Amino acid sequence: MSLASQTPRSTSCLLRLAGYTTRASGSTALRSTSRPMLRLLHEFQSPLKTSVASLESGDSGLDTSFPLQEFTFLQNLIKNTPLFLQPSKRKVDEFQFPLGTTFKASSREIGLEMKDAFAQALREYGIIAIELGFDDPKSHFMLEVVEAMGCTPDTHSSTEGALWDITYRPSGVISQKTAGSVVSRSHSLGEFAWHTDGSFEAKPQRFFGLHIIHPDKLGGGIFRVLPVNDLVKLLSPVSLEALHNHEFEIQVPPEFYKGTATNRGKLLSIDPETGRYLVRFRRDILANPPSDDPVANTAVAELNAILEKPDNVGQTFSEDIFKENVIILMDNARFLHCRTEIKDPRRLLRRVRFNGTPGVRK
Ligand SMILES: [Fe+2]
Repeated sequence: MSLASQTPRSTSCLLRLAGYTTRASGSTALRSTSRPMLRLLHEFQSPLKTSVASLESGDSGLDTSFPLQEFTFLQNLIKNTPLFLQPSKRKVDEFQFPLGTTFKASSREIGLEMKDAFAQALREYGIIAIELGFDDPKSHFMLEVVEAMGCTPDTHSSTEGALWDITYRPSGVISQKTAGSVVSRSHSLGEFAWHTDGSFEAKPQRFFGLHIIHPDKLGGGIFRVLPVNDLVKLLSPVSLEALHNHEFEIQVPPEFYKGTATNRGKLLSIDPETGRYLVRFRRDILANPPSDDPVANTAVAELNAILEKPDNVGQTFSEDIFKENVIILMDNARFLHCRTEIKDPRRLLRRVRFNGTPGVRK
């Protein structure tokens, strides 16, 4: 199926189906779909006894009561359209992107048309990947997509703008706090342990995007993600409660100084709208000891022990996702991330941090 052969309406339908992940959103997609697509879908709407859960064990990321035939239909639809990136079969340690969260944007215009599908998938799953079929050396498209989804890019510091190069830059950046040059962890070659971005902010940016310009070609800089849901399962109930209740002092690194040296915040919280766990964390900017509360300090020690060895938890991305000209958009509060030591000094990722609710304009 070529994109040119699709009507704009059916293209729109496919995009909406990308976010067809629950019965509620599926109903919305069905109501808005074109007549031929409705007929096609109708054939798969008969009462079904089998659900995805029986075959996929929830691994698809779909509602576990999702009817199997609908799932299979959508899976085939997504496999057969050029609007979705098709990762190869994943290895054991690789993160599985849920169905309908890996996209292809063959042009800037088509990519921006897909903003609603991006937004819905990002809201639902907290992570998407978009392979660009066009050159964008300055990462303008990533900023445009963030704004098209109704979100707002944030500045990185008093002296740096919305885009930040993650690359080897021993000269560092100018800090307003020190009035001199400081070298961020993201500008070093060292490993970067499990963290969330902007965890030192008064209100950490909820999302971030990475435009992969030049991945590490020498086997270093391996990016890993850890869903907060997986993390909380490893914590004891006492520590879980302590991390959820206690506010910690968090130091602002000088390269990200915006006028405040420290902020306070809980490391775990619950999203009042979705009931999902949210996390903010970066070990090296907590005080030592982290607080004057022994229970809270024990909880942080337990958390650190879980995260001590990056390979013990979390997953990597497959090479057909983490490659040149792919954009990853992530919910910074639903995933921790880390990277191994850089081996290729030419590695370059460009980052944007942003706030808002994708697809929901204020
Ligand atoms: Fe980061």
